[in-house]
Amino acid sequence: MYEFAVNVDSILVILLLVVWSAAGLLAGGLPTRRRARLLLVLIGVGTVVTVARGIGTGLLWSNGWVFVADRVLVALPLLAVPMVAMFALAVPALRRIAGRRRATNGTAETAETARTERTPETAGAPPAPFPVSVRVSVRTTAAAALLGAFMEYLSRPLPPYGADMAIYAGVLLVAAAASRGRNPRPRRAGTRRAVAVTALVATAITGAGVYGMRTSLLPDRMSMMGHGDVDYGGGPGGSHHGSRASGVPAVKAVNAADLTGPRTGTGTPDRVFTLTAQETSIRLGSGAVLDAWTYNGQVPGPALTVREGDLVQVTLVNRLPREGVTIHWHGLDVPNAEDGVAGVTQDAVQPGESHVYRFRADQVGTFWYHTHQRPLVGVRRGLFGSLVVLPPEGTAGEDITVMAHNWERPDGLVAAFGTSDTLDRRPVRPGTPVRLRVVNTDRNAWSDVESRNLVLLGTRFRVAAIDGVDLDGPSELDGVRLSVAEGGRYDLTFVMPDRPVLLADLANPRAGLLLSPGSDGPATAPSIPSDAPLFDPATYGTPAPAPFTRFDRDFTVIIDDRIGFHDGTLHFLPTVNGRGFPHTPVHMVRQGEVVRMTFVNRSHQVHPMHLHGHHALVLSRNGRPTTGSPWWIDTLAVQPGETYEIGFRADNPGVWMDHCHDLGHAADGMVTHLAYEGVSTPYEIGHGTPNQPE
Ligand code: C2O
Ligand code: CU
Repeated sequence: MYEFAVNVDSILVILLLVVWSAAGLLAGGLPTRRRARLLLVLIGVGTVVTVARGIGTGLLWSNGWVFVADRVLVALPLLAVPMVAMFALAVPALRRIAGRRRATNGTAETAETARTERTPETAGAPPAPFPVSVRVSVRTTAAAALLGAFMEYLSRPLPPYGADMAIYAGVLLVAAAASRGRNPRPRRAGTRRAVAVTALVATAITGAGVYGMRTSLLPDRMSMMGHGDVDYGGGPGGSHHGSRASGVPAVKAVNAADLTGPRTGTGTPDRVFTLTAQETSIRLGSGAVLDAWTYNGQVPGPALTVREGDLVQVTLVNRLPREGVTIHWHGLDVPNAEDGVAGVTQDAVQPGESHVYRFRADQVGTFWYHTHQRPLVGVRRGLFGSLVVLPPEGTAGEDITVMAHNWERPDGLVAAFGTSDTLDRRPVRPGTPVRLRVVNTDRNAWSDVESRNLVLLGTRFRVAAIDGVDLDGPSELDGVRLSVAEGGRYDLTFVMPDRPVLLADLANPRAGLLLSPGSDGPATAPSIPSDAPLFDPATYGTPAPAPFTRFDRDFTVIIDDRIGFHDGTLHFLPTVNGRGFPHTPVHMVRQGEVVRMTFVNRSHQVHPMHLHGHHALVLSRNGRPTTGSPWWIDTLAVQPGETYEIGFRADNPGVWMDHCHDLGHAADGMVTHLAYEGVSTPYEIGHGTPNQPE
């Protein structure tokens, strides 16, 4: 609904621009009867479209004031003011001009219409234009429509709107003054003026473009700490190193590089792995052969399965010919220096080099690992694998992990499970308890506004865990659609029935994991429903008392998008609080604090927001508190029009990258940081460094 209304609104903005500009041009011509009539028609159409935009705005209002404030406070008043003048003054004048013939043929002809009628034919004298009321009100409305389009596509202002209102009103006043000019001019002068105005506008646009492009260029090297505005979220702050003499306790300076897991020599690792990044050509289920980047020559990389409490040691070796690589343990809240983010927690590991990660696996659940050096390229090409932490006693039955990924086949993008872009069969004995761990590594292959949509058919099942955290009291589900955020995980449990069970991705009904109860003959997959209702974690399972009752910091993250530059190239840019990286916020906290973060998605796309190093509890959606099981996330899909509040405890000091896990969006600057006061990172990012974490 929101996406639809917002997209219609964007179209109405263009319509308004076209209609009011046409009216503005007409108002500059000779006041013939035909022009006057056409102008009246355009005014009628423009008014209808304006009213439609008003109604649409009213509808969007139900999503929250922040979704419509720019329209209500700035865009619509800008249009309304000149339009009122237009109806009061211009429309009567136009009707007189349009109705001249009737007046001539009728009884009386007013002095005014007689004068306007004759003037164009008066030899020698300059022809009289439309009355000043028409020129000014119609052209000012056109200018307001232009400002409206600028707001919608290029600026998308955020509250408070005081400055925007003042600037736009000023521009409108100038436009009103400028449109008083007595047109039409003699042809030549008119052309010259048009050329001059066009040149001026072109220069201004080019200038603004070049300025925007230049200022969007990322510096050659910069610290991830030093970007944007530091946001203290209403908490204490202002001192990075505890030098403040006020009542706030001093914070000890910490180097993020020292925040490691148990170091070599301090304990024998329980599990030792080596992951070698290398170029490999892989074959998809359909037979398509792709050049991939892999860990250990396979996609997904080796499934790392460990037990709770294990000290895990992973050596990363880079044998890629040119590309740097890291490993980020997505969802596992490891110590900061083990987080594997190039330029934030380490330098990217260069070809021929290696790096050792050591951490204790303290959370039971489903996680995954992937490179965090140019992940848009690296993860998409295959540098990922699963990481499962089992309880000490292990699990009974079948434990199956599937990683939903998209592959760029020669014939286009295709959704797959692992490398199978066709049906993957697997026998499971009836009566066996099954835990199906679904990891989503990638975006919905078909939609910008929804996360990946999966269905599990042929059995009733429970969503036992989300993002590696078990849900309380999950009830049985049947035939629902599961929307899994990019980067998120769902654990599905059921007892294998005596008929086939199918896990399928709605974006590619030909791919799927088919569990068949026996080895006798090929099982037929259940058919995929087209209208499965959406599973909602906000109301699923048994509630528990809220662990957070007060918050030390409150951060608001307003997600939006507009046309703009990022690092020198023009994009449809996702923004955080109006800007892209590096002008995005650093959220500053202190250890032990309780933090509330509010995501507001005013944009046209879904954004899976991912927190490093922390799990957060979903508190509310669209103003309504969650009523189901505590729902902990590390990756939360925020759909257009949605508002989410999440809460977490700042219990893992470091410098953490928080970003949109639509890796294309992150690469376009949808990156923020969570920083602990006193902690600084020695690493740098930029073209002049080996590190491009997004
Ligand atoms: Cu899965 Cu910052 O990443
Ligand atoms: Cu995004």
